[in-house]
Amino acid sequence: MALIAPSLLAADFLRLEAELRMFDESEADWLHLDVMDGRFVPNISFGLPVIESLRKATRKPFDVHLMILEPERYAEQFKAAGADILTVHLEACPHLHRNVQQIKSLGMKAGVAINPHTPVALLDDILHDIDLICLMSVNPGFGGQAFIPHTLHKVRQLRQLIDSRGLQVDIEIDGGVGDKNAADLIAAGATVLVAGNSVFRAPDPKAAISRLKTL
Ligand code: DX5
Ligand code: ZN
Repeated sequence: MALIAPSLLAADFLRLEAELRMFDESEADWLHLDVMDGRFVPNISFGLPVIESLRKATRKPFDVHLMILEPERYAEQFKAAGADILTVHLEACPHLHRNVQQIKSLGMKAGVAINPHTPVALLDDILHDIDLICLMSVNPGFGGQAFIPHTLHKVRQLRQLIDSRGLQVDIEIDGGVGDKNAADLIAAGATVLVAGNSVFRAPDPKAAISRLKTL
């Protein structure tokens, strides 16, 4: 059984309060929040004031995925806005170890995300310092894209790496996750599934969450 993290990016922004109520009442574990800067990724999403407002609607953990350059400039503000897990991109951080230390010193769990082309082996020397790896199974920037099948191979590699060191690091899969691939991802060793369109655009989002949850 994996943790399920619905991605707010696919929600109806005109009905955010109702979407949050659905999330809160559902079996979902974390809320996945995609922050984009229009520089690291070719899209702009939402930021601090939105997260701060949403914080009042649920006590479940906020899993904030920063697709931004220079995340160190904003880590403290994301903590204040209510982030519990803060994930930065390996490709955006020349001083990744410093970013991870900063996030942890602020009292958040630290995550590192890697793009589809980035080898799992590049995580070798940061693995023991972090709480979560976010494997991008689409190119970051947009919801609703097709799952890249090669991700399954990366999940298996990462599972082996983590287990061989006796570590407890979550493997989160982000992009194009739904009924078609969730079981395979869990079998390969994933522990957290992000689901945007497959939850918020489903006829019955709560049922979609329960389905993923019972796999
Ligand atoms: C993509 C984001 C994902 C996205 C997933 O850049 O990081 O979290 O919201 O959406 P779906 O599940 O619709 O692919
Ligand atoms: Zn994301």
